[in-house]
Amino acid sequence: MTELSVIIPTFNEVDNIRPLYDALDKVLQEIDWEVVFVDDDSTDGTIDELIKLCHEKPNARRIHRISRRGLSSACVEGFQTTTSPYLAVMDGDLQHDETKLKDMLELLKVGDCDLVLGSRYTAGGGFGDWDQNRIKVSKFATKLSMLITGQTISDPMSGFFMLTRSALNKCIRNLSLQGYKLLLDILTSYPGQMKIKEVPYEFRERQHGDSKLDSMIIMEFAMMLIEKVTRGLIPARFILFSAVGASGLIVHFTVLYMTFNIAQFGFTVAQTIATFVAMTSNFFINNWLTYHDKRLKGKRLFTGLITFYAVCSLGSIANISVSSFIFEQKYTWYVSGLAGVLIGTVWNYAATSILTWRK
Ligand code: GDD
Ligand code: MN
Repeated sequence: MTELSVIIPTFNEVDNIRPLYDALDKVLQEIDWEVVFVDDDSTDGTIDELIKLCHEKPNARRIHRISRRGLSSACVEGFQTTTSPYLAVMDGDLQHDETKLKDMLELLKVGDCDLVLGSRYTAGGGFGDWDQNRIKVSKFATKLSMLITGQTISDPMSGFFMLTRSALNKCIRNLSLQGYKLLLDILTSYPGQMKIKEVPYEFRERQHGDSKLDSMIIMEFAMMLIEKVTRGLIPARFILFSAVGASGLIVHFTVLYMTFNIAQFGFTVAQTIATFVAMTSNFFINNWLTYHDKRLKGKRLFTGLITFYAVCSLGSIANISVSSFIFEQKYTWYVSGLAGVLIGTVWNYAATSILTWRK
């Protein structure tokens, strides 16, 4: 029976695949192990490299996901293709120290903990070549997440850990799977206090390829925190969607000012142009930000825009009817207006999540 499955999310890591497999093979000699690479449709040849490796090595497998992005969801999909009792998550770029895997497994096998964490913060761990700014950001995020999770572990942002399948099963249905902080997601979704041990490791320098965690990381992190703080009551996507809607107001009034006051169009024409420009900008910002993991491209971008126009037009009708009705019940103008906006936004969000950015 395979005892340990090492799950490795990859996106454009062509030059790292082979060295990483060889490194694992070297340190896991006495263990019955396998590796599952979960690739999100890399464009640099990683896919062919993985197929070649999997043909050669019976204990290497890969999942090739299409039209999806996301480190956390990739790892969980990897977990679910295996049956081994111990599961490790590790980056595919050699920055995590594979020589620690054996220690992690030993600790889990003793049986008095659910998860072993690779930590850069305990004595013996470190940040490799990270610049001061990234270390500062990382430390800040660490403090914030400690506050929220109530966990006292030293490195909740670590992407390198091992857990038992039975621990995973206790929280798998509660995971948000947003973004790349899977460990944090597991800790905050686990019923009760998770028993955790730590092993120190030194974060290595990246040798090949580039980091994928760009400007999106802060946003994804914020989304996950919102969802956890509101206990999933308010989906983080809805908050982003509403923020984009608010940005649409600025666009609307800028265009209205330009077309009505400067270009001297009639009011109805100016208002119509402003509405379409604002809807269009809302669509593209939502597609880029709110639905960055389900981004529409090519022909689907066009059909998406059409459904978005249709939904939002109905949303405005709902908004106007509801607010007028409430106003007639003798509520003040701002309460009525707010109720209309709320109904319109909820409708737009719900309907576009089904019609425009459907699963
Ligand atoms: N399948 C998949 N899908 N894999 C991805 C995606 C994705 O959308 N984005 C990134 N990856 C893979 C990369 O190919 C790499 O193997 C691993 O996930 C980590 O990505 P990096 O881009 O190398 O991240 P990093 O080095 O900046 O961040 C790492 O260190 C952080 C420490 O603060 C990660 O381990 C983070 O999880 C960790 O928190
Ligand atoms: Mn990395």
